[in-house]
Amino acid sequence: MSVVADHLTDRIIEEDGSFRSRMLKIAATMTNVIAMGRGDPDFHTPAHIVEAAKRAIDENQHHYTPPNGIPALRAAIAADLKKEYGLDYSADEIIVTAGVQESIALIMLTLVKPGDEVLITSPRFTTYDMAVSLAGGVPVPVPTFEKDDFALDVKEIEKRITPKTRMFVLVSPNNPTGAVTPPAAIRQIAELAIRHDLIIVADEIYAKIIYDGSEHLSIATLPGMKERTITLNGFSKTYAMTGWRVGYLAAPLDFVTRVTEVRHMQSINTSTISQYAALAAVTGPQEPIEAMIAEYTRRRAFLLPALDKMGLSYGKPGGAFYVYINISSVGMPTPEFCEQLLRETGVMLFPGTMFGDHDPNYIRLSFLQPLPILAEAVERMQRFIAAHRKAAA
Ligand SMILES: Cc1ncc(COP(=O)(O)O)c(C=O)c1O
Repeated sequence: MSVVADHLTDRIIEEDGSFRSRMLKIAATMTNVIAMGRGDPDFHTPAHIVEAAKRAIDENQHHYTPPNGIPALRAAIAADLKKEYGLDYSADEIIVTAGVQESIALIMLTLVKPGDEVLITSPRFTTYDMAVSLAGGVPVPVPTFEKDDFALDVKEIEKRITPKTRMFVLVSPNNPTGAVTPPAAIRQIAELAIRHDLIIVADEIYAKIIYDGSEHLSIATLPGMKERTITLNGFSKTYAMTGWRVGYLAAPLDFVTRVTEVRHMQSINTSTISQYAALAAVTGPQEPIEAMIAEYTRRRAFLLPALDKMGLSYGKPGGAFYVYINISSVGMPTPEFCEQLLRETGVMLFPGTMFGDHDPNYIRLSFLQPLPILAEAVERMQRFIAAHRKAAA
């Protein structure tokens, strides 16, 4: 071990990246791979957003911005939060960060004391585990279940509250399940947060990608909640802008004022050019976004009946672009299922265990491929499952 690696602190928890690496290595040797595991939209960033970035370069926007972001972008975000979700934030209550990812680090660094417990919607986006652990806190998963389409049940949260619980991370729609926690449950979570004096981190990065029959409620709109909530959102998913690295947090002014200097320490500001692109995204025409969401809707409408036909159950995703599928009927634990599926058919997707799920019966499939490719992937999966079910019988 190198001297530097030998001095790693115990804040650095060991992450088992070996399975993902193995899958990627196998995929690199194949020519017919269909990637169904990623969380990155297959669309390009809409042209008017790209044009705005080019303009910013030509107009010499090559310098630092205020650490919380350019005022016009923060004002536009505040207006969008009001219009889309009924949230009341002023431009000064917003900090623009390098993706939601940087907001997560900033929050945990500034709010979690050693030993604090942070409850997290689970299965989950495991960045939260890493950020909480780095701050010396303890991540505590709150399970959700297929029978509820993976929506949160307030009783599962309450059971895990201890005197050390500081925060609950509410991710709706969730990654990897696509679950949208219904408004009634969000109201119960708000009451619980007030009763136990918890901070809520509301990760709403998928909130614009919602399907018929589901309703997103932003928890910070409820009485008494704004003062204890940090709302997270960003541009990566909605606008197909993952590589631009723009997200933001919205929170009460006194918190934002105190952490702006910490944000300055982390990376000074989000890329200036990307901020101008984000400004065009939020103030410009929304039709390209509507078209992407319409396409996700068509893919979902194709995929769910196809899974039914394969005899696979799943949580019906109310939002995002994932479906979390139960493959217990195939008779193979999921890491093995994913590896064999890749080797035999070229379809690459990842096991739920990579999202902190202790139940080895789930896989996450993202529908981020055009319909004809999705149809090809479904056919390959169908053949694979039929062959392995037969072999097990
Ligand atoms: C729930 C959730 N939050 C945050 C992020 C981070 O997004 P970004 O940093 O690109 O804004 C992701 C990315 O997959 C996510 O799924």
